[in-house]
Amino acid sequence: MLTATGLSKRFGALVVLSDVDFSVRAGEAVGIVGPNGAGKTTLLNILSGTYPPSSGRIAFRGTDVSGLDAAARCRIGIARSHQIPRPFHGMTVFENLLVAARAGGGLRGRAAEQKCLDALGQCGMLKLSNRPGATLGLLDRKRLELARALATGPDVLLLDEIGGGLTDGEAAELVAIILAIRARGIAVVWIEHIVHILVQVVERLVCMDAGRIIAEGDPKSVLRDAAVIDAYLGPSAAHAAVG
Ligand SMILES: Nc1ncnc2c1ncn2[C@@H]1O[C@H](COP(=O)(O)OP(=O)(O)OP(=O)(O)O)[C@@H](O)[C@H]1O
Ligand SMILES: [Mg+2]
Repeated sequence: MLTATGLSKRFGALVVLSDVDFSVRAGEAVGIVGPNGAGKTTLLNILSGTYPPSSGRIAFRGTDVSGLDAAARCRIGIARSHQIPRPFHGMTVFENLLVAARAGGGLRGRAAEQKCLDALGQCGMLKLSNRPGATLGLLDRKRLELARALATGPDVLLLDEIGGGLTDGEAAELVAIILAIRARGIAVVWIEHIVHILVQVVERLVCMDAGRIIAEGDPKSVLRDAAVIDAYLGPSAAHAAVG
């Protein structure tokens, strides 16, 4: 459904992505892991159209979308959350979602409002509808990122570290939310450092290091891969993640 081929990204002399091929099928859930600075967020930024790659192409449903910016990609069904939440502080939670449903989803009137209620319900945020964005704690801001992305009516949801700092109970809640999103047929690409949460949701795992994909496939095999243990997990964490 979303396919990137030969992506490279340079910031000046710094090569951040080198010749990365990445794809996600309709309804599939893919996890991305890797050490800090591996290029995970950069890959997501390029998939979402936040900035263009230095080279390479992106296709969505068989059509080249390399030339579309983030707003245009959102309107055709590619939505993302940000690693650092960016709510509109002066607006309520509901108003934040309305902006997303209108600008990102192209919805109007009742249809936009219904989409927002749906997204809030799915994320367990209905009670927070009237809270100003500025008063939310970190966890709720992360959830708002997710709800906002959902309110645009995506076919592919790109998530950047929405799980950081959660208690076990909150993590279980987040897993249930993402599984429900997937059950609706929305494809999910999820960058997350909390590997034991990620493996409860994704059917395929990609590990990046220094701008390249160093392993991908079935999550358990990837977490046992020698290169992944060496670059990212370390032996004890690998054992804990796979169980
Ligand atoms: N706009 C930018 N200008 C210059 N360098 C950048 C820019 N964005 C990212 N980088 C650099 O690119 C590299 C990859 O960054 P990226 O944010 O993609 O890593 P990441 O895998 O998401 O890491 P983390 O797990 O810490 O979020 C880092 O060395 C970072 O400093
Ligand atoms: Mg990142």
